[in-house]
Amino acid sequence: MRMKSTALGMITLCLAATWPVAAPAATIGFAQVGHESEWRINFTKSMVDEAQKRGTTLRIVDADGSRAVQVEAIRRFIAEEVDAIVLAPVVIDGWDEVLEEARLAGIPVFIVDRAVDADPKLYVTRIAANFNLEGKLAGAWLAQASLGRCAILELQGTPGSAAAVERKRGFESIIEQFPGMRIVGTGTGHFTRAQGQATMTDLLVAARDPDAICAVFAHNDDMMLGAIEAMKAAGLDPGRKPLTISIDSVSAAFAALRAGELNVTIELKSDIGGHILEVVEGYLAGRRDYPKWILVPSDLHEGAPRP
Ligand code: AHR
Repeated sequence: MRMKSTALGMITLCLAATWPVAAPAATIGFAQVGHESEWRINFTKSMVDEAQKRGTTLRIVDADGSRAVQVEAIRRFIAEEVDAIVLAPVVIDGWDEVLEEARLAGIPVFIVDRAVDADPKLYVTRIAANFNLEGKLAGAWLAQASLGRCAILELQGTPGSAAAVERKRGFESIIEQFPGMRIVGTGTGHFTRAQGQATMTDLLVAARDPDAICAVFAHNDDMMLGAIEAMKAAGLDPGRKPLTISIDSVSAAFAALRAGELNVTIELKSDIGGHILEVVEGYLAGRRDYPKWILVPSDLHEGAPRP
């Protein structure tokens, strides 16, 4: 504010000195994965709604599943001198260079949802669920439901994404403790309903005896919803045999639980915009005691058992 020697100017200065001055609304660049699933669309909406509530300017780039587009978006945010960058990375690797550019420009970066393998000094914190635990929960539920004997088909999420890598790892760490449980067919459905359906169709064709498949584990609900269509088209009765387990807990998954076609959906909270922006704005206001991983807890929702 420029100093003026008028009476009005003096009053303004006095008020500013007496009352706490609200921090100017922040401008935040958000490099989002894309719009591949109902979960992702809900998450974007949560960020937009929360930014609006807080008067925060949110510049969103929907990368449509491309790391290159996200890297370009981060460079643009740096050139625009945003106050902070929120990155929901498509894949784990390939971030050190651009995060170093943000650091040199003095712009703090917050990782949300999926993880990166970059030097942790290059970002403030990661706000995310424990994908490995989600995979373990899926494996543990299935071990109990199948009494430890199960031929499993798996639908994986985007290759190289933390959500796919960790869910698979967590699931396998449980089933490998049961000699009667094994993954007999696996393929990627890229977290989308259409590709989940196409890949499940292929896996069922490749399976020697589709009737012997005891369960399908999908890394997200959208792929499972597509897979359910593929199983029905192949004459199977998803929810009874095969058992069906997926992750996200989107509204369409609850409908499938009620219809008895989905047995379990493990919750990944999507309404986390408030939590994220609170951390970002806390940091911009001077708070520095954030841990490197701020955990968003998961839950498990189960349908009624089928006869
Ligand atoms: O990274 C989280 C995963 O990405 C969600 O489980 C999936 O639906 C999304 O696309």
